[in-house]
Amino acid sequence: MKKVLAALLLLMAIVEASFALPVYESAKPPVLVQGAMNSETDRLISALDEPVSCDIAHWRFFAGKIDGYPVVVSVTRCGMVNASASTALALETFRPCAVINQGTAGAHDPALRCGDIVVASDCFNCSAWMALPSSKDQGVNYRDIGLLDLNFYDEYESGNDITFIPSDGKLKGCALSVKGRYSAGKVVEGRVATYDSWEKRVDKIIFLHEKFGSSCEEMETFAVAKVCRVYGVPFLGVRVISNSALTGESFDPKTGGYCQDFVIEIVKQYVGELRR
Ligand code: 5AD
Repeated sequence: MKKVLAALLLLMAIVEASFALPVYESAKPPVLVQGAMNSETDRLISALDEPVSCDIAHWRFFAGKIDGYPVVVSVTRCGMVNASASTALALETFRPCAVINQGTAGAHDPALRCGDIVVASDCFNCSAWMALPSSKDQGVNYRDIGLLDLNFYDEYESGNDITFIPSDGKLKGCALSVKGRYSAGKVVEGRVATYDSWEKRVDKIIFLHEKFGSSCEEMETFAVAKVCRVYGVPFLGVRVISNSALTGESFDPKTGGYCQDFVIEIVKQYVGELRR
C-alpha cells in the first residue's frame, strides 16, 4: 500500500514538473500586447525597458516595462488557433490586467487606405456561418449565409449572443484619446472580421462589408477576444490597413510598424490612467 502511495506521489510530482509554466512576478499585473508576426511586434519589443524573453511551446513572450509599468509583448503567430492558444497560455502565465491585440489587416471599407487604423468597436468570427440549403447542380451562392453564434452551443455563455464581441470601453477610450498622436493615416472606430482566410475578390469583400458591417479582415482578433471574455480580462483590438483589394493597394509591411507606434501611445495612456 505504502509503495503504491509513494509511486502515485512520484507520478504526480513528475506530471506537475513537466507541466510547469515559467514563473512571472511583477508588482502589478502587466498589460499584454500581442502581434502575430515579427514585423508586427519588433518595435513593441524594442520599446520595452529591461526585457526578458521566454518561450512557451513555440510562442515567444517578452516581459519588460513601458513608462515604468509592466508590459508583456507576445508573438502569437498567424491565425485563430495560434492566437487562442497563445492567449490562454499568456493569461494563465502572466495574469495581465488588459490585452491589446494589434497588427495588419485588409480593408473591407472602401473609405480606408493603407496606413489608416481601425480601433475595434467590436469583432466577429467571419468563418462561423450557416448557409441556406441548395440542391445538386444548383450551384453555390456565397451570399446565402448568415453568421452563426458558436456560443449557442456553449452552456457557460447561458444563451448570450456574442456574435459581435465588443472591445473594452476604457481601453477603446484610451485609443481614441491618443489618435491625434498618429500621423500615418486616419484613426477610425470599426468592426473587425476574423477568419483564417485572405479575401482578394472585390465583390465578396463588398458583400461582407455591406452584410456584416466589417471595416477590415485579419486572422486573430476574434479568437483573442473570445478567450479574454472567458477569463473576464479587458480586451482591445487595433488594426492598421496594410492592403486593400478595393483600392488596389498591395500588402505594405511598413504599416505593421506604424500600428505598433500607435499602440505604444495607447499603452502609455492606459498605464497613466491606471496610476491615477
Ligand atoms: N486578410 C487576412 N489577414 C490579413 N493580415 C493582413 N492582411 C490580411 C488580409 N487581407 C494579417 C493576418 C495574419 C497575417 C497573414 O496578416 O492577421 O496575421
